[in-house]
Amino acid sequence: MQHYLQFKDFSADEYAYLFARAALIKKKFKAYEKHHTLVDRTLAMIFEKASTRTRVSFEAGMYQLGGSVVHLTTGDSQLGRAEPIEDSAKVISRMTDLVMIRTFEQTKIERFAANSRVPVINGLTNEFHPCQVLADIFTYIEHRGSIAGKTVAWVGDGNNMANTWLQAADLLGFTVHVSTPSGYEVNQSVAGLRSAHSYRVFSDPLQACQGAHLVTTDVWTSMGYEAENEARRAAFASWCVDRTMMAAAAPDALFMHCLPAHRGEEVEAEVIDGPQSVVWDEAENRMHAQKALMEYLLLGRQA
Ligand code: CP
Ligand code: NVA
Repeated sequence: MQHYLQFKDFSADEYAYLFARAALIKKKFKAYEKHHTLVDRTLAMIFEKASTRTRVSFEAGMYQLGGSVVHLTTGDSQLGRAEPIEDSAKVISRMTDLVMIRTFEQTKIERFAANSRVPVINGLTNEFHPCQVLADIFTYIEHRGSIAGKTVAWVGDGNNMANTWLQAADLLGFTVHVSTPSGYEVNQSVAGLRSAHSYRVFSDPLQACQGAHLVTTDVWTSMGYEAENEARRAAFASWCVDRTMMAAAAPDALFMHCLPAHRGEEVEAEVIDGPQSVVWDEAENRMHAQKALMEYLLLGRQA
C-alpha cells in the first residue's frame, strides 16, 4: 500500500505513468466516455481548512470513476472534539477505501497514515500541496512538453507550494528560481531536500523571472497564518508578479497560480487574466490528475 503525503513519495517513472494516464482520463472525460474503474469504492475527504478546488475536483472525480465520497470537516465530526487522529484513522479506514486529508501540520497526516488501512492523500498541509504540483506539471506538459531541464520562477512565500515545487524539481530534473521576502525563505530541511542543487535563491523577484519557462506564485498569507496578515502585507509588497516580470521571462513563458488569487497583491490582474496565464486549465487539471492518482493508489498501473 502506498500513500501520497508529499511529492517525493513517487518516483519519476511513476509520474511519467500518472501524466500519461491523466491525459487519457481527460480525453475520455471530454468525449463523455465512461471511465468507471473505481465502482463501489469510497473516498473519505477530511477538511480541516477551507477549499473549493480540492473538494470539487476530488468529489466530482471520484463520482466520475464510479465511486462515492464521504465529506467530513473538523466542525461537523468528532475531529473537532479532540478524538485522537490515530483513532479517527483506524475507524475511517475500516469503512472507506481511500482517504484525502487537508490539515495543518504534516505530522498530523503522517500520524493518520501510520494508522490507516487504506491509502492516504495529502490535500494540502502547512508544508506541502503535492496534488496541486501534480496538476501544475501535467498542465505544463500539455502546453509545452517535458519540464525536464526547464526553469520555474517561484515568486512569493516559502510555503507549502514552494516546498512542493522544490521536491518536484529535485525529482523531475528542472530548476526552481526562488525569490521570497526576507524572513519568508524556503527551508531546505522542511522541504525535505537532501541538497540544494535543483534550486537557486534570488533576493530580487525580477532576477528570479529572468529566462524562466514558467512563472508561478501564491497568496501572501496561507491558511492558518492569518494572524501574520498585516506583517506579510508589508513584507510582500514587491513580490507581485507583474508584466515586467513576465517580460523578463522566456518569450513563451507560462503563468500559473494554484488559486485562490488576490489580484493586485501577489499578481497583477493583467498577468493572471492575460495570454500567458493557464490558471483555468491548471484548476481543471486537478480533477484529471487526481483521478489518475486515486486509480493508481487503488489499482496500480492499468494497461
Ligand atoms: N488550489 C487549491 O487547493 O484550491 P482550494 O483551496 O480551493 O482547494
Ligand atoms: N498556500 C496556500 C494554498 C491554497 C490552495 C494555502 O496554504 O493557503
